[in-house]
Amino acid sequence: MSQQWKAVCNVADIPVLGARVVKRATQPDVAIFRNSEDEVFALLDRCPHKGGPLSQGIVFKDRVACPLHNWNIQLDSGCATAPDEGCTQKFSIKVEQGKVFLDMNELQPVSGEAAAA
Ligand code: FES
Repeated sequence: MSQQWKAVCNVADIPVLGARVVKRATQPDVAIFRNSEDEVFALLDRCPHKGGPLSQGIVFKDRVACPLHNWNIQLDSGCATAPDEGCTQKFSIKVEQGKVFLDMNELQPVSGEAAAA
């Protein structure tokens, strides 16, 4: 399926070393993180440990520290660093002219796609 990019915010709207949340109607929120290099990453706002809100964690380099039990989650993969194990969902993201885009097909998975064909 081709990507359907949708602008969700500006890079400048995301706190440096912090995150901004994109709400979804029926599914858990998506957290968009910004590191000190102005790189952005999108992960499900749920820690793979016990579901902590990663958007409230502290970003450092390419990781975010979960606010609940301090697991370190890699922003580019969504996976915990050793010795912890587990991954949270990551989302496609792109930046153009200072705007952050997410793929609507990933944000709102189409159910019953076959029926619509
Ligand atoms: S819920 Fe994130 S470290 Fe426990």
